Parts: sequence; C-alpha cells; structure tokens
Amino acid sequence: NKVWVLIPAAGIGSRMRSEIPKQYLSVCGATILEHTLRCFTDLSELAGIIVVVNHEDTYWQSLLQESQLFSNGKLKIRYTYGGSDRAETVQNGLHYLLNDIGLSDDQWVMVHDAARPCVRLDDLLALLAVRDDCDLDGAILGYRVKDTMKRSNADASKIGFTESRENLWHALTPQMFRLKELFDSLVEAKLAKHVVTDEASAMEFLGKKVGLVEGASDNIKLTSPSDLRLIEFLLKAR
Ligand code: CTP
Ligand code: MG
Repeated sequence: NKVWVLIPAAGIGSRMRSEIPKQYLSVCGATILEHTLRCFTDLSELAGIIVVVNHEDTYWQSLLQESQLFSNGKLKIRYTYGGSDRAETVQNGLHYLLNDIGLSDDQWVMVHDAARPCVRLDDLLALLAVRDDCDLDGAILGYRVKDTMKRSNADASKIGFTESRENLWHALTPQMFRLKELFDSLVEAKLAKHVVTDEASAMEFLGKKVGLVEGASDNIKLTSPSDLRLIEFLLKAR
C-alpha cells in the first residue's frame, strides 16, 4: 500500500524567462527540483520516485550524478521522458511505471509539480489518508479561495459579474490516484479533446470521485521571477 511519487519536470519554464529551466535554478544551496524531491524523502510510506524530464534536458544527468540526495543510494529513483504538455508528461511517467517497472494497476501514485518545492509533510500525510476512504477514487491538495472573484467580459476590459466564492478552491499538487485508473482517464480525456490542466480534471471528466484535502496555501508553484524570492523565504523558514 506504499505510494509512488511522479514528478513532472519536463517543462521549459517560459514564464520564468530564465536561461535554465526553472526546476534547475538554485536556491538555498540546492536546485528547486532537489528541494521538491526532499519533501518526499521523509515519507515512511514512499515506494519510489519517478522524475519525468524533457528529451532535451542537459541538467538532469549531472544532478543525478552529483546531488547529495542520491549519493547514499537509499532513495529509489527512476526517470523517463516527458511530452509536449503536462498531461502527456504525466501519461508517459505512468506508462513507464506500469509497463517498464511493472507496478500493479491499483498502485497509488502522487503526482507533484517539480516547481512546488514547499509542500509540507503534514499535508502529504493528510492526502495519503485518503487511501483508506472507500468513497473516493483519489484526492488532491487544495485551499479555499480568499479573494473576491470577478468574471470579466470576453475581452477582459471590464467586470461581467462577481463569482460566488463559496465552494471555490485553488487546486494544488500532489494529486493522488490509482495508477491505471489515472492513466486510462488521461487517455480518455485526450481522445475526447477535453482540456486537462491537472490530473483531477481528467478523473472528473470520467465521473470519478475526487476528494479535496485542505492544505497550506504556501505550497506555491515557481511560475514567474517574483515567486523565487518567496520560495527562498519559505525554504529558509523550514
Ligand atoms: N511540465 C512537464 N511537461 C510539460 C510541461 C510542464 O513536466 N510539457 C511540468 C513542469 O516542469 C512543472 C509542472 O509541469 O514542474 C507545472 O507546469 P508549469 O508551471 O506550467 O511549468 P512550465 O510549463 O515549465 O512553465 P511555463 O508554462 O511558464 O512554460
Ligand atoms: Mg506550463
């Protein structure tokens, strides 16, 4: 009943506008990706981690050889190659776990963005507890919307109306599902040309029951340059 962690790390980080992909930027003495991986190494129920990297990635191999994280050989780490969008990257990773490693269909897997290095152990444990909930096919971390939400008109020049904030959440990662069920959902959603921006949206599309686990809102994703300062602050405060 242990969990595999799948880290999509094949993006190029265009909004970050940095020379190297954002997951390889250094902060507090290690790369963003290493900080992200470290969030999972204390999980006693960790079965292994698969990192899904870009075909043209020139940083992953040196990280694999040089990082302290992998030096004691305790961490079971695998890698494979991603696709042109995040959903395809995740699908490739799941395919590798099912077919190359030969994991069972009902193996639980947590998908977590390489660019989210601040997720807390408490939140991971709360998400893991969903494995015992027979009413759910999986769950995601999220937090409630705090600001007033406006829907704009079509050209975004003015407010159309105010959305109710009630029952509105921000979706975070990790998102945890069973291996084969998630893989099949991603395949189906893609066939139907359904837009999939996270794993849950593919599962929802197939009518699966996805739980929401309230997590910390500082589990932020490195997206643009200003996020880097905040992430540095959060990592230092650990
Ligand atoms: N990702 C991926 N494969 C892709 C696109 C994204 O594995 N084809 C990963 C990124 O590496 C990141 C996570 O998905 O860890 C979240 O995506 P995002 O923040 O959008 O990262 P990028 O796509 O790299 O950034 P941008 O959209 O600014 O180019
Ligand atoms: Mg992107």
